Amino acid sequence: MNGKKPRGVLIAGNWKMNHTCAETEGFFSAIEELTRKTPLSPEAKSGLKSGALGALIFPPMLSLARAAQLAEKAPFTFEVGAQNVHWERKGAFTGEISGPMVAELGLRWALIGHSERRQYFGETDETVRKRCESLLAQGFQVVMCVGETRAEREGGKTEAVLARQIEGALPKKGEGAAAFLDGQLVIAYEPVWAIGTGLTATPQQAQEAHAYLRGLLRERFGSFAAEETPILYGGSVTPENIDSLLACQDVDGGLVGGASLKPDGFLALLSAGGRASKG
Ligand code: PGA
Repeated sequence: MNGKKPRGVLIAGNWKMNHTCAETEGFFSAIEELTRKTPLSPEAKSGLKSGALGALIFPPMLSLARAAQLAEKAPFTFEVGAQNVHWERKGAFTGEISGPMVAELGLRWALIGHSERRQYFGETDETVRKRCESLLAQGFQVVMCVGETRAEREGGKTEAVLARQIEGALPKKGEGAAAFLDGQLVIAYEPVWAIGTGLTATPQQAQEAHAYLRGLLRERFGSFAAEETPILYGGSVTPENIDSLLACQDVDGGLVGGASLKPDGFLALLSAGGRASKG
């Protein structure tokens, strides 16, 4: 292994319920200004150009359209996606948004199964599975989150929880293989105890969980799917700790909340992604 990331590196920002349209505009103009003053590193630039490095953000729904327009004019390829999308394409589902609504904005990325959706909004493995199946069928790139709580980790249940979440949410063995072959699925390992707490998993804890998840994908969908599927780490990732996480063999990027909100922080995460993608 020469250190180069075989699946590239994806830096994804989960903005959660942060950044109004005006603040989203501020974010993109600061990205423009900062990269004009201090250009991105050559590794990050060439990674973003070749696709070895990806930049992605999930703004809140009302800022999505504005972010989509601004991302088109960004100084580098910047993908934008929705934080949550219903499985039905339309209908009587007050407060929800559908895949066609997101696709109409020219967007192809969706985040599903985040632990905050599971904890606060009644999301279950079953509803994650419905979203996952429907969005893959609609051609979306799907980032699906899994992760154990502190009590589950302390009770030695981490692997059982991850297995249940993967088993419960992904298409049945054989059935969804096409989606994997098309590279439509990304898994995000986000230990609940690390989200927004400042308690990052150690690189060893992250690597163990990622290797376990990759093993589950291998059992279920075969080696090709397991080797092709990026697995991101999320939970208190910062520009200071991301290098050590990306150094882990099975960590293919970060799903970052707090540290992705500031333009300089996001650019610092991208620089780290550039270093890792170059190997
Ligand atoms: P955090 O959030 O980086 O603020 O811990 C990560 C996430 O919930 O995706």
